[in-house]
Amino acid sequence: MPTKRMLTGDRPTGKLHVGHYVGSIKNRVELQHQYESFFIIADLHMLTTKNSKEDIAEVAANARMMVLDSLAAGIEPDLATFYLQSAIPEVCEINTIFQNLVTVPRLERMPSLKEMARDAKKEEMPYGLLGYPVLQAADILCVKANVVPVGKDNVPHVEVTREIARRFNNLYGPVFPEPDFLMAEVPTLVGTDGQGKMSKSVGNTIYLSDDEATVRKKVAGMYTDPKRIRADIPGTVEGNPVFIYHDVFNPNTAEVEDLKTRYREGKVGDVEVKEKLAAALNRFLDPMRVRRARFEADSGLVDRLIVEGTEKTRAEVKQTVFDMRKAMGLTATYNQIRRKAERSAPKERDTLD
Ligand code: TRP
Repeated sequence: MPTKRMLTGDRPTGKLHVGHYVGSIKNRVELQHQYESFFIIADLHMLTTKNSKEDIAEVAANARMMVLDSLAAGIEPDLATFYLQSAIPEVCEINTIFQNLVTVPRLERMPSLKEMARDAKKEEMPYGLLGYPVLQAADILCVKANVVPVGKDNVPHVEVTREIARRFNNLYGPVFPEPDFLMAEVPTLVGTDGQGKMSKSVGNTIYLSDDEATVRKKVAGMYTDPKRIRADIPGTVEGNPVFIYHDVFNPNTAEVEDLKTRYREGKVGDVEVKEKLAAALNRFLDPMRVRRARFEADSGLVDRLIVEGTEKTRAEVKQTVFDMRKAMGLTATYNQIRRKAERSAPKERDTLD
């Protein structure tokens, strides 16, 4: 059993797509053998931008879908611990304590938060969104994780986490490791529209759960070189999403090089390039389809994994809170008062230790 821990995860906002796979899931699948693995379903983080009752009502279904997608993509149910953030209220206590270990200007400088506020159409920064990286530090440190595999946009949050861990340890004593981030090789995958990163809200995604015909249809509609209105016009390969995907998903490099050469010379039609891409994507997704069917057949597996994982994680987090309170002297504060109360009027009372 590995002794070092990793923690990572996602907000439960929808199905996982191939962009998630190359940006993070692939990494997780490799790392699960090296580290004891915790995967957070970060529904409290979701509330920083989406907090209507309707949004919350979708969390359960989205959480199940994300776990099933992860299993299909190669996460092993016997190795992984999945948990639901909001089912562990102790994380909020850690968050409260951590809020005093970071300054407002430090958080205001984070570009990711401004972007999230803009995407969520918030005119002003919600207090909770400003605290997003602090809550993330609470997630990472609540199980004393050593490594955090994340996409590029989350790296600054792990830096804040390191600062908070360091500050805590300096002020109160060594409770936390300083976790390292691990970044994926392919940081962000462009969407099928070629306009920006793959994202559900834009509708430019290929989902891990898409079937063969859907993949063929989505690839056929992909954005390519717009100058190329006929197959005999030389085309541009660089930055062309169809070739970006070929590079990422088609392991047949000879085929890819041949297509690129002919594309540049105006000697291949878009249809052939796209058909070969769809075939490559389907070959890439086929083993996931087989795994998905296997895990889907085990009814209740996903729900059991989430519940067992949440219980296991909560026990860990309770221990961490205890260690923190002890190191800080919070436990002593109450115990002192309680002992005096007992002396003046003896009675059975709750303890903090
Ligand atoms: N911030 C992550 C996202 O972009 C989700 C998340 C919440 C997370 N807590 C975490 C990731 C802890 C890694 C570690 O959706």
